[in-house]
Amino acid sequence: MKTRLVILTIVAVTLLAAGVSFAGIALTKHNLSSAAGANSTIKSTGAGSTDQLCIFCHTPHRADTTSGPSLWNRNNATAVGGYTLYGSGNKTLGNSTVSNPNPASRACLSCHDGNNAINAVINTAGVAGTFTMPDVAGRLSGNKLDAASGYNLGTNLSNDHPISVTYDITKSSLNTLTAGTGVVRVTSDTTGQGTSGSATVECTSCHDPHTSASSYFLRATTAGSKLCLVCHNK
Ligand code: HEC
Ligand code: HEC
Ligand code: HEC
Ligand code: HEC
Repeated sequence: MKTRLVILTIVAVTLLAAGVSFAGIALTKHNLSSAAGANSTIKSTGAGSTDQLCIFCHTPHRADTTSGPSLWNRNNATAVGGYTLYGSGNKTLGNSTVSNPNPASRACLSCHDGNNAINAVINTAGVAGTFTMPDVAGRLSGNKLDAASGYNLGTNLSNDHPISVTYDITKSSLNTLTAGTGVVRVTSDTTGQGTSGSATVECTSCHDPHTSASSYFLRATTAGSKLCLVCHNK
């Protein structure tokens, strides 16, 4: 009886430890480090690689304080004004025209617009640096997301759900959401650094770049289109 209890305790503790060490971003496609990641295909390997996970996006020091989210370790080579957003073409939004993604979305685009080297960061222990990141056919070429990759959205975002648009709760077609709360996130924090503005929809409204709890880093399930129905009163 006593032995059984001890064994059960060991099993429980082991499971708990495993749960802690394997949860979260390490299991996702955003684990770009050389450390084992169950789901990632694009990884830093060989000489000049890094086993750090957060460094591709965050740094404890010398972070970008002008545009990125919290302690942001990346520059975006795409010029301000270098994007075409939804509604800029033949579609119309009942919103003021948005000409440039807010920093919260520019952060994602610093990898996902295909124009930026994924392996280049602002700070690696005091100096800017790049990590060795071998090409993966059809996915990564020359350190940038391959043009053929479904993950490369390009700089023409007119065929993507609107981003950096105001979430105007006075519109009857939208549900009432409070900035910063809820399953999906409309954010009043357009820079990701605490500057408040009107609540807007950003990439981070629908996606949480750290989570392994859902596919595509989504904040709400697409089953029954629940994600869409959180915001749209349809
Ligand atoms: C692929 C890029 C990426 C990686 C890798 C990454 N983060 Fe983030 N992180 C972000 C973005 C983007 C935000 C802003 C999120 C938002 O505004 O919702 C953020 C925000 C945060 C925040 C602020 C609070 C929050 O959750 O919004 C913390 C804390 C954080 N990250 C910690 C980490 C740690 C620790 C790691 C490594 C284990 C890590 N991140 C790896 C992109 C990344
Ligand atoms: C440091 C570069 C980097 C940043 C910053 C980054 N991503 Fe990614 N992301 C990647 C890479 C690399 C992949 C995997 C591509 C592949 O496997 O072909 C990926 C994959 C994804 C996927 C697909 C996941 C899946 O399960 O198939 C989504 C969705 C995504 N990212 C959204 C975002 C969003 C939203 C942000 C900002 C909050 C962001 N990413 C920021 C590099 C980045
Ligand atoms: C309104 C919600 C919403 C917003 C805003 C949003 N996404 Fe997504 N995204 C999704 C959904 C849902 C999927 C799941 C796959 C699909 O339907 O294409 C997805 C999938 C993806 C994928 C995987 C490839 C693909 O096309 O399916 C990437 C990469 C991605 N999103 C990046 C981004 C980036 C970067 C932004 C901001 C510029 C962004 N997303 C804004 C809802 C959103
Ligand atoms: C975080 C809240 C949010 C989520 C989640 C969301 N939307 Fe939206 N969506 C908006 C806002 C805000 C607008 C801009 C509305 C406006 O100002 O006219 C918009 C615009 C649209 C439009 C364009 C309307 C036009 O005038 O051209 C369509 C279509 C749409 N969304 C469909 C979807 C679908 C489909 C999903 C799920 C994949 C989704 N949305 C998820 C907030 C959201």
